[in-house]
Amino acid sequence: MSMKNILCIGAGYVGGPTMAVIADRCPDIKVTVVDINERRIAAWNSDELPIYEPGLEEVVKRCRSRNLFYSTDIPKGIREADIIFVSVNTPTKTFGAGAGKAADLQYLEKTARSIVEHAENGKIVVEKSTLPVRTAQAMSRILHSNTKNLKFQILSNPEFLAEGTAIRDLENPDRVLIGGMETPEGEAAIEELVSVYARWVPRERIITTNLWSSELTKLVSNALLAQRVSSVNSISALCERTEANIDEVTGAAGKDSRIGPKFLKASIGFGGSCFKKDILNLVYLCGHYGLPEVADYWEQVIRMNEFQSRRFVGNMLAAMFNTVADKRIAIFGFAFKADTGDTRESPACSVCLQLLEEHARLNIHDPKALGNAKLDLEGATGEINYLEDPYEAAEGAHAIAVMTEWKSFRELDYRRIFDSMEKPAFLFDGRNILDHAALYEIGFNVYPIGKKA
Ligand code: NAD
Ligand code: UGA
Repeated sequence: MSMKNILCIGAGYVGGPTMAVIADRCPDIKVTVVDINERRIAAWNSDELPIYEPGLEEVVKRCRSRNLFYSTDIPKGIREADIIFVSVNTPTKTFGAGAGKAADLQYLEKTARSIVEHAENGKIVVEKSTLPVRTAQAMSRILHSNTKNLKFQILSNPEFLAEGTAIRDLENPDRVLIGGMETPEGEAAIEELVSVYARWVPRERIITTNLWSSELTKLVSNALLAQRVSSVNSISALCERTEANIDEVTGAAGKDSRIGPKFLKASIGFGGSCFKKDILNLVYLCGHYGLPEVADYWEQVIRMNEFQSRRFVGNMLAAMFNTVADKRIAIFGFAFKADTGDTRESPACSVCLQLLEEHARLNIHDPKALGNAKLDLEGATGEINYLEDPYEAAEGAHAIAVMTEWKSFRELDYRRIFDSMEKPAFLFDGRNILDHAALYEIGFNVYPIGKKA
């Protein structure tokens, strides 16, 4: 049998790692990843991959030029493919009807149209991007508008990887979800994709459903995860007023097996490219389907997240005698979480902008995200320095604000840092990762989230 060809359109945070793992686990399949962004493709073909993800480089180096290829030749990729994954970005619409909530599907539609244009035979088209429920209906209409009488099967196969653990999540997923049409052709297409994942994922973890359940499950999974963070963060505010300790509360509540211990960490708020956009998308869909109460319910998860970062800056101001004007503040971490250089929707960005509005001077340090931080804060008014060295970032500062839970922040010499700072020296731990008692002993004024130092 000839080698099967898989094409992925969209070489981003999802398409890149996902296809690398498929290529790694399926040496008999040729995997090609294409993108309109030439710089990104060049980076995937170089020693400097366009995204940082633990373990990714090893997998890419193992497979590249063996059965994993990165290219900008989209027409050729489409012509040769048996299965096409669509993994393009689906950001929140910024214009027109549904602006600020609905998903902007222009990239998806353009992709579908280029498949129609270049395909010479029928194919399985897999929605890998996160999409509004019932998108497959629109995809099907576009794909079947072809005049070549080609038949396409559309599958929904949402991705559940989290950044920073993408390779681990892909190699050992809790579940793989595949939705398809409930017709013999649909079921055959589902089975074909199941047979790809079944090379390394136990069969019982591969769930098959109808198309609409699969599309909706992705939005619901992210909404439920974000809701947990907002729930905990709302309670962290109450802890600060009542001397309850958020870590003790979530530690004890999470012991209930129905609640579970994961995703209960208080923080400055959730970030990342997806939680906010996917909940907004859900909110929009609920409104569209005539369910305003359901829309309001989920919108509150986002309101609470915004409240948490405002509250954090409010706490900083209150502690620092109601002014940070002209004070130097060391920002430890700009990525939206540890082990990634991604800063999309990072709460650190919102905190920095609020501090700049207060005329603070910022020294930003992050082990992987300084490049993206510079782009995010381009055009922001005020003094901003970007420093590779955390000690330099803290030198002469009035305060440190921990924004990202990088492990390296726990390993710093805080005595040395304290000695180099202005006094009184403040430390605001927006991730509750440091040893607060030890910092207090050194002399810091320590402000964790949802508890006393
Ligand atoms: P991304 O922006 O990193 O990558 C998308 C890529 O698609 C870009 O490189 C862009 O140039 C390319 N693209 C856009 N239009 C194109 C076209 N017409 N032809 C070819 N390439 C095109 O986005 P991402 O983070 O990889 O997310 C992709 C999708 O996956 C989104 O729907 C997102 O919600 C979903 N998702 C993301 C994550 C995550 O952790 N980032 C996890 C699960 C699901
Ligand atoms: C999230 C989901 O976890 C993935 O399953 C999903 O595939 C992905 O979104 C997506 O659709 O894009 P990701 O955003 O990469 O993954 O990272 P998470 O680990 O979910 O963290 C999201 C944010 O919540 C981060 O800012 C993190 O610091 C914050 N968080 C997470 C908390 O503040 N507290 C927690 O207990 C957990």
